[in-house]
Amino acid sequence: MTLKDKHIVLGITGSIAAYKAASLARLLIKAGAEVQIVITPSGKEFITPVTLSALTGKPVVSEFFTANDGTWHSHVDLGQWADLMLIAPATAATLGKMANGIADNMLITTYLSMKAPVMIAPAMDLDMFAHPSTTRNIEMLRSYGNIIIEPAAGELASHLIGKGRMEEPEKILEVVEAFFAKKETLDKKKILITAGPTYEKIDPVRFIGNYSSGKMGFALAEECAGRGAEVTLVAGPVALKVNHPNIKRIDVESAEQMYNASVGVFGDMDAAILCAAVADFRPAEQYTQKVKRGEDDLTIALTPNKDIAASLGKMKKGGQMLVGFALETNDEEANALRKMEKKNLDYIVLNSLNDAGAGFQHDTNKISILNRNGERKDFPLKSKKEVASDIIEEVFFSLLRPFK
Ligand code: CTP
Repeated sequence: MTLKDKHIVLGITGSIAAYKAASLARLLIKAGAEVQIVITPSGKEFITPVTLSALTGKPVVSEFFTANDGTWHSHVDLGQWADLMLIAPATAATLGKMANGIADNMLITTYLSMKAPVMIAPAMDLDMFAHPSTTRNIEMLRSYGNIIIEPAAGELASHLIGKGRMEEPEKILEVVEAFFAKKETLDKKKILITAGPTYEKIDPVRFIGNYSSGKMGFALAEECAGRGAEVTLVAGPVALKVNHPNIKRIDVESAEQMYNASVGVFGDMDAAILCAAVADFRPAEQYTQKVKRGEDDLTIALTPNKDIAASLGKMKKGGQMLVGFALETNDEEANALRKMEKKNLDYIVLNSLNDAGAGFQHDTNKISILNRNGERKDFPLKSKKEVASDIIEEVFFSLLRPFK
C-alpha cells in the first residue's frame, strides 16, 4: 500500500482522456489513497459522476452548490484536506485558466486554494499541445512549482500521431508513488551545481567547445530544488531554462568564468555536484580581430585551464561533499577512481560513451556511482530526470548519510 492514507484530489476536465481518469482513480485507491474527485462541467460530458463516485465511494464535486439542497462545497476545505492534487486529464483551456487564475469553476477554485503540491497531466491534440500559448501556460505552471506529467507521443483520439496523449494511468501512478516515496528532503541545504560545456574564445567569432547539452546538470538542479535545497547553478552556454524558484542561475561562458563563479560560492555550500564538461585548455592568446584565412597552416597554442573540481577538492572542509562526473571511453573504472582520488571527490558518477543512449545530448543516461570506500553501484538506462533522482538518493541518503 504505497499510498496508504494519502488524500488525493483528482481533477478531471473535458477531454476524451477523461475515461482514463476512472482507471487512474481505481489504481490510486488500490494503492491505498483516499480519492476525492472534482470534475469540470465539460468533464461530465465525457464521463459520468455516477461511475466515478462508485469507484471512489465519495460524491463527485463539480458545482459550487448542490442544486437540490443548496449544500455549499468548500474548495478551501479541499485545499486543506489534500496531500496532493492531481489534474488528469488537463485540457488546454484548463491549463490557461490555471496559469492565469481564471477561477470560473470548482476545479480552478480548488486549485487556487490548494495547500498541497499539484501535478498536472495535460491531454490534447498535437497542434494544441504545440501551440505557443500552451507552451507558455505550461512554463508558467511549472514556475509556480506545479509538477507537469508530460503527455506521451502516439496515436491521438483524432487519429493524428504526435505528442498530446495523456500519460497512461499506470505511469501516472508511478509518478505519484515516487513523489510520496521521497520522504527524505534536502531542506535548506546549499548545493552548487556546474552544468553544460564551456566555450573558450579563439577570436570574436570562434571558440573551442564541446557537445555537452547541460541536460544532466539541469535535471540535478531541478531534483535538488524539488527536495527543498537552495541550488546555485553555474551554467555554461546551453539552450535550457530553469523553472524552480529555489535555483539561482549564474550564466558563464569560459572555464575561467565558471571557475571564478564556483570558487566564489563554494565556501558557503553544503555540497557541490560538478557536472559541467569543462574545457581542459583555452587558446593561449585571444585574437581581438577575426582571424583571416591564409595559405599557411594555422597553429593555435593552448594553455591549461584551472581544474574546478580539484580546486574545490583542496578547499573542501569537513561536512562539505563533492561529487564529480567522469565520461570515459576506455579503462572506465580505473580512470574514474583515479579522478576521484586526484580531485579529492567523495563520489564520482561514471558514464561511458560506449553505452547507447548515455552521455552528451541524450535525454537518457546510464551511470555507475563509485565512492571512496571502493563501492560501486550500476544503474540501468533511464531518463536524466530519473538518473538525477538516483544520484541524489545515493550520494545524500544511502551510503554516508551525512545530512542526518
Ligand atoms: N572538471 C572541472 N574542471 C575542469 C575539468 C574537469 O571541474 N577544468 C570536473 C568535471 O566537471 C567532472 C570531473 O572534473 O566532474 C572530471 O572531468 P574530466 O575532464 O573528465 O577530468 P580530467 O581530469 O580533465 O581528465 P581527462 O580529461 O584526462 O579525462
